[in-house]
Amino acid sequence: MPFRTIIEPFRIHSVEPLHMTTKAQREAAIAEAGYNVFSLRARDVLIDLLTDSGTGAMSRDQWAAIQHGDESYAGSPSYVIFRDAVQNLFPFTHVIPTHQGRAAEKILFTVVGGAGVVIPNNTHFDTTRANIEYTGAEAIDLVIDEGRDAQSEHPFKGNMNIEALRDLLRTRGSHVPLVMMTITNNSGGGQPVSLQNLRDVRAVCDEFGKPLFLDACRFAENAWFIREREPGQHDRDVVDIIRDIAALADGMTMSAKKDPMGNIGGWLALNDDALAESCRNLLILGEGFPTYGGLAGRDLEALAQGLTEVVQHDYLRYRIQSTAYLGEALHRAGIPVVRPIGGHAVYIDARAMLPHIPPLQYPGQSLAVALYETGGVRGCEIGTVMFGRHTDGTEHPAAMDLVRLAIPRRTYTQSHIDYVIEVCEEVGRTRDNLSGYRITTEPAQLRHFTATFERL
Ligand code: F0G
Repeated sequence: MPFRTIIEPFRIHSVEPLHMTTKAQREAAIAEAGYNVFSLRARDVLIDLLTDSGTGAMSRDQWAAIQHGDESYAGSPSYVIFRDAVQNLFPFTHVIPTHQGRAAEKILFTVVGGAGVVIPNNTHFDTTRANIEYTGAEAIDLVIDEGRDAQSEHPFKGNMNIEALRDLLRTRGSHVPLVMMTITNNSGGGQPVSLQNLRDVRAVCDEFGKPLFLDACRFAENAWFIREREPGQHDRDVVDIIRDIAALADGMTMSAKKDPMGNIGGWLALNDDALAESCRNLLILGEGFPTYGGLAGRDLEALAQGLTEVVQHDYLRYRIQSTAYLGEALHRAGIPVVRPIGGHAVYIDARAMLPHIPPLQYPGQSLAVALYETGGVRGCEIGTVMFGRHTDGTEHPAAMDLVRLAIPRRTYTQSHIDYVIEVCEEVGRTRDNLSGYRITTEPAQLRHFTATFERL
């Protein structure tokens, strides 16, 4: 098209009001929240970029699908519609619905984890790591070196380091029940994994007789990047790329709050009958009967419809281009961002932006608070607050200190994003005045959700 403006490939059908606040009100709100953006009242947030998880807008057809939900306890036809929609893209034998992604992780790692077990991944997401470590197992990140370098322009920075994976399997293979790949690599900057890398991982798994599981939350965005960036993929339908990815794996954990366009939901899917049976037994203990898992029939129907919408090329083109629109504008304004721009979020490199704040004084936290105080924009620290505390009680700087501005699907318009750009520019101008933080209270696990802070 000869036009520059990225237009949203939908029009608005139902609206939600935003609540305006003054800077003084926001300063009071964040102080009351212990300088933790997770403890803010959402009403006091103007543009909420905390997460793209469950925060997207459902379509007219998804709301219509909700009316079609069948709430039978067992054997609901809504389960069949859901299962068929999942298997259309990911033809695994067993599809086990859960209330969200971490429930699938908890079930899977309760079965295969435990003391002495090692689970490699390109980069574990925080809940995946926490669920693995909770069983006493060890979670290891083996992303390529470029994936740890915020400025590298490598097109597939989510790729697994194949040699490192082979070394791990050679030395500790008997402790590894499965290999995971997170597509896209959320904790590493929303960066995609190439089809070639997935094939190479599969080959190493075959060499050592290990199953490969996908953490596939953002599979459609990943497949779109493959279509855009990988030689030989450009003319393909994204659905075929997704099926190629699925064919390389033995199973998946899934948060349906991302690409499947749900406000809630997830699943565990796999081929192994015995493993599926153990997982279903745990599902019944904690989530529900296998034809609804942790969900209502109406949710299953909304997800089935969402799976047909997320693979539409007009949608994916808009989605990836509009995230890049925010990222490129920040880059032009001299704000360091993880490059290239990822699929669901823009990651500001807070350590590079605030070099006067040492990692153990949490530059990402400082930036996240400043974005909120300045303009009511809520992003999320992904850095030393999230990953710095280790199971042995020690604290170390994380590989990177980032602030993620995650874009809910189909929710904000370009003028909202233009406002976010202005807020970031303003924080950029006053960056030298920002100070570090000290943690005053923290829980034993996943401390970023509930820790409280004091400004230094
Ligand atoms: N795996 C990845 C890669 C994720 O990004 C998430 C969630 C999960 C697993 C867990 O799924 O939330 O449904 O239990 N990520 C959200 C985020 C929370 O903000 O990035 P869940």
